[in-house]
Amino acid sequence: MFTLKVAVFVAIVAVCSAHLCMLSPAQRGSLMGFNKAGANDCFLVKSPCGGRPKSDNVITLRSMQNLTVVIQKNLDHWAKATPGQFKFNIAQPDGSGIQTLGMIPDMGEPSLTLYALNVTIPSSSAGNYILQTEYVTKNAQAPPVFYQCADIMIM
Ligand SMILES: *[C@@H]1O[C@H](CO)[C@@H](O)[C@H](O)[C@H]1NC(C)=O
Ligand SMILES: *[C@@H]1O[C@H](CO)[C@@H](O)[C@H](O)[C@H]1NC(C)=O
Repeated sequence: MFTLKVAVFVAIVAVCSAHLCMLSPAQRGSLMGFNKAGANDCFLVKSPCGGRPKSDNVITLRSMQNLTVVIQKNLDHWAKATPGQFKFNIAQPDGSGIQTLGMIPDMGEPSLTLYALNVTIPSSSAGNYILQTEYVTKNAQAPPVFYQCADIMIM
């Protein structure tokens, strides 16, 4: 009986953990195995950057520059009654001073779907920032938010 409950619990967790990858600009850490649903590098649930340290790969942008950000729903867990969304933010490296640049609703697309959004870098002060994407699941059976970050410098 106990074993059965554990097995059922594991099955539910496996089915319900939605994942998020950020392809461009490339997420911190690696993107290993992102063409398969459930990639470890896309299962980051700790704010603001999933515990991934600052990358050496910092892209330089001008304020008011337009940029196409490409993310992937690595593993779907859309809940029809409470659909979630993907959010595109810019923030200080510690996650403070967050500004949402845009949003895409989760319409229940399958795992591995790509989403692209054109964002405009705000006229912030020059310096280092994170470009943060969030998969807000609004699904009680899944972690509430998945995070990815890319490091940027606004000049
Ligand atoms: C950026 O995009 C906005 C909105 O689509 C557009 O109005 C603006 O001209 C673009 N800026 C540049 C520098 O291309
Ligand atoms: C982003 O902007 C470019 C240039 O204006 C346009 O060609 C492209 O379709 C836009 N992409 C999206 C996902 O809106």
